[in-house]
Amino acid sequence: MANQLFARKSIDKLSADAFSEGAHSLKRTLGPVNLVALGVGAIIGTGIFVLTGSAAAEYTGPAIVLAFILAGIGCAFAGLCYAEFASMIPIAGSAYTYGYATLGEFVAWIIGWDLILEYLFGAATVAVGWSGYVVSFLRDFGVNIPPEWSNAVGIEMVYVAKTGAWTPITDQLTASLAADGVNIATLPHATGIFNLVAAIAIALVTILLVIGMSESAKFNNVAVIIKVGVVILFIMAGANWLFGHPDEAAANWTPFIPENKGGFGEYGWSGIVRAAGVIFFAYIGFDAVSTTAQEAKNPQRDMPIGILGSLVICTILYILVSGILTAMVHYSQLNVAEPIAVGIEKTGYRFLRDLIKIGAIAGLSSVMLVMLMSQPRIFYTMSKDGLLPPVFGRLHPRFKTPHVSTILTGSICAVVAGAFSVTELGHLVSIGTLLAFVIVCAGVWYLRVKEPDRVRPFRTPLVPLVPILGILVCVGMMAGLPIETWYRLLGWMAIGIAIYFFYGKKHSVIRKENNLE
Ligand code: ALA
Repeated sequence: MANQLFARKSIDKLSADAFSEGAHSLKRTLGPVNLVALGVGAIIGTGIFVLTGSAAAEYTGPAIVLAFILAGIGCAFAGLCYAEFASMIPIAGSAYTYGYATLGEFVAWIIGWDLILEYLFGAATVAVGWSGYVVSFLRDFGVNIPPEWSNAVGIEMVYVAKTGAWTPITDQLTASLAADGVNIATLPHATGIFNLVAAIAIALVTILLVIGMSESAKFNNVAVIIKVGVVILFIMAGANWLFGHPDEAAANWTPFIPENKGGFGEYGWSGIVRAAGVIFFAYIGFDAVSTTAQEAKNPQRDMPIGILGSLVICTILYILVSGILTAMVHYSQLNVAEPIAVGIEKTGYRFLRDLIKIGAIAGLSSVMLVMLMSQPRIFYTMSKDGLLPPVFGRLHPRFKTPHVSTILTGSICAVVAGAFSVTELGHLVSIGTLLAFVIVCAGVWYLRVKEPDRVRPFRTPLVPLVPILGILVCVGMMAGLPIETWYRLLGWMAIGIAIYFFYGKKHSVIRKENNLE
């Protein structure tokens, strides 16, 4: 029984399958620049544009910078491990495929199921962030989207005249209104019905993806340029402001690590650990590059370039943005839907604020695009292995895209995006992705011991030290997340295990080939 569950796919067979050309293969259209752009496209998004503000306000203050460094270090270790696998097994399944080749089918299924949290739920999270910026942008032009249709189910909000925005009720909001002499009960109230704006975003991206890879890659390249441009603009405008207002900046940065308020995660060092787990979300995406390995022109050389190149660029930008933002605006005022725009308002240039919002909207679109592109490709691979029904493996006869699974993914994602809040989703995506990273790090180490002579076009340095450090930092960030997030992860995994025993185990191709039934 145990051996059957841990049936492995041979790496040679995986590579042979990947390189077999024919009517049913994915098209190879992506070069190294596309891959770095895809990585950056997937990485810079809701994490930096939305979650940075609330994480600084609730957990760290200016020390959000340290949280970004900690999370960046964890990702660098995991990224080095991903690069070894992606260059060795350039197949469309990412960590799922690596799991199949190393730790066997059951673990592969667990990873594949877990990756749904990263990609499908990740895209939903970004869609919620997107809706926040779109609603705020339209509001600047006098177009007011009803709060009931631009917020998650059941979210209670009040209208705050000072900001002109419908804002979710939190203890922090109640306290800050009370400090201004406003009783929150006297303000107009609304309750979220469904975030239609977020659901529409997912629908649009899904349509683009069904039309084709190279069209999507072109859109992505443009969106990435706008997004990176806007982030650099923020850094330059912010730095310029800081040079003119050194005293105010110093005051906002003091104390750099606000004192812990008593509970785990409420500022202090534990706040930094919790915030690292939360803003880890901002780094998710470099691994998405690996899911396009079957569409890369030269995966052995370009996978590591795509993964590590995009990670390095984003880490530098995040440290600069979070440091400048918390120096410009006191962290207590950053718990808003569009913190980067709030920061730029300090410069006094109104047009910059609108530009930042446009950049964020374009940028978040590209994140959704890469995530919603990756998910159906993982489903595609899982379906080819028999662990999911054949419908997930169907390719469009002309576009050569996995259209049915793209539409299914998009439909489920749109419902999730409409129903849940950015915090609930973001925490779950972080913990799920961290789990996948831990397994990938363990897999690299395991395979080095098991198959030391295998050709590795890219070798993770200092094995086993780097995988071990990757595991430790990622588990540390998982441990920092709230206990409810852990319960949700366990619930999700329990559903996945049940599906495996009721469906995947019976239909597994490799088990049939090995006569394991
Ligand atoms: N890293 C991506 C983001 O922050 C998922 O939106």
